[in-house]
Amino acid sequence: MIIGLCREHAAGETRVALTPPNIKTLVEKGQTCLVETGAGTAAGISDEDFKEAGAEIVASSEAIFERSELVLGIQPVSPDASLRDAHLARLREGQMIAGMLDPLGESDLAKQIAERGVTSLGLEMVPRISRAQSMDVLSSMATIGGYHAVLHGASLAPRIFPMMMTAAGTLKAANVLILGAGVAGLQACATAKRLGAVVSAYDIRPAAHDQILSVGAKPVELELETEESEDAGGYAKEQSADQLAKQQAALAKVLATQDIIITTAAVPGRRSPVLITEDMLKSVKPGTVIVDIAAERGGNCAATKAGEVINVGGVIISGPLNLPARHPFHASQMFGNNMTTLLSHLLDDDGVLQLDFDDEIVAGTVVTHKGDVTHAMIRQILELPAMPLGTPKEEPAEENKGE
Ligand code: NAI
Repeated sequence: MIIGLCREHAAGETRVALTPPNIKTLVEKGQTCLVETGAGTAAGISDEDFKEAGAEIVASSEAIFERSELVLGIQPVSPDASLRDAHLARLREGQMIAGMLDPLGESDLAKQIAERGVTSLGLEMVPRISRAQSMDVLSSMATIGGYHAVLHGASLAPRIFPMMMTAAGTLKAANVLILGAGVAGLQACATAKRLGAVVSAYDIRPAAHDQILSVGAKPVELELETEESEDAGGYAKEQSADQLAKQQAALAKVLATQDIIITTAAVPGRRSPVLITEDMLKSVKPGTVIVDIAAERGGNCAATKAGEVINVGGVIISGPLNLPARHPFHASQMFGNNMTTLLSHLLDDDGVLQLDFDDEIVAGTVVTHKGDVTHAMIRQILELPAMPLGTPKEEPAEENKGE
C-alpha cells in the first residue's frame, strides 16, 4: 500500500504524525512511504532523516493526496474554517485517512469526510482498552500536555517551586494544586513534584485517590457523594448542577491556600466542567497562577480566555492551547508510535490493510467508511439511525496488496 505522510498546516502545529523509525517499521512491513517535504522540520526531523529510513520525499500536499492510498497526519483534514474546504477537496473517493479528526466535537466534519467517500480513522476514538493502550494518542498527548502545563505555570509564577535554604534566606516550597487527575493531571502531579513543589490533587472519580498517591501527591478530600461519578469505561460522568455547586463551595477553601493551580478536568464529548467560578476566584490569592489546560473545551475556570494569559484581580490565568505541540520531538515520537502500532494491528501478514468491524479496535476507531459515518457514537450525535451490527468484512482490494 502507498502511505503518505502530510505536512501540518494548522497555526502552531509543530508535530508530525510519523517519525523515521516508524517509516522503517512500515517499509519493513512491505509498505511504500511518501513524506511531504518539510513534514518533520518543526519537530527537528529533516527530509534526509525520513529518506534514510526508507521514505520517498514528495514536493507537495497535493502530490501526497494524489498518490497515496492512505494519508496520515496529526490533522489530515483540519476543522479550522480557513483550511477545511481546501483539505476536504484534497480527498478522493476510496482513499483512507488517519489522524485526529475530533469527531465528537466536529461531527459535521465526519459527515463531510463520509460524503467524499473516504474511510477515516479517528485516532482519538481508539477504545481505551488494555490491548489498545499503545495506540492511545489521547493518553500520550495528555502526558506531554500535563508535563508542559507545569513548566508553563512555573514560568508565569512569581515564586519558584522548591524549598531553598540559602544565605539570602529560606524560600518556602510552592503549593501546587491539580484539578482533574486523569492522564494529564497525574503527569502534572509528577512533574510539579520533581520540581520540588508541595502537590495536591483532586478528581471526582474515587479511583483517582490511589492514582494521586502513587505519583507522590496528596489527594484532596471534599467529602462529596462521588459514587455515581464514573462510567463503565472509567471516565468521569457529567455532574448535576447540585453536585457541581457543592463541589465548588468545598473547593473554594482549598484554592485559597494555593500558589499554582493546574486544571485538566474533562468529560469526553462535552464542554469541560467549570470548577472555578468568577465568584470562587475571589478566594484565590493575588499572585496565584491558574493554568487551565481544559481551555480548548471551554475551560475549567470561568474567566479563562483560550490562548491568552490574563490578570484577574492579581490572579494570572492562562488558557494555553495545543500543549503537545510545545514539545514536538517527543510528542511526534509518541504519536508516531501510537499510529504505527494501530496500522500494524490492521496490516495482515501479507502487508494488506484489513478492516474487520468485529474487532472492537476497528469498530471504535473507524469514523467513516464507504460513504457513511459508521461510528455508533458519532451517528448518535448526528441523529442518524443506528447501523445494523456486523458490518460486512472488507475484501482486500487487489491494489492494496503489500508492495
Ligand atoms: P479526561 O481528559 O477525560 O479528564 C481528565 C480528568 O478530569 C479525569 O480524571 C476526570 O475524572 C476528571 N474530571 C471530570 N470532571 C471533573 C470534575 N467535575 N471535578 C474533578 N475532576 C473531574 O480523562 P483522561 O485523562 O483521558 O482519562 C480518564 C480515565 O480514563 C483514566 O483515569 C482511566 O480510568 C481511563 N483511561 C484508560 C486507559 C486505558 O485503559 N487504555 C488509558 C487512559 C485513560
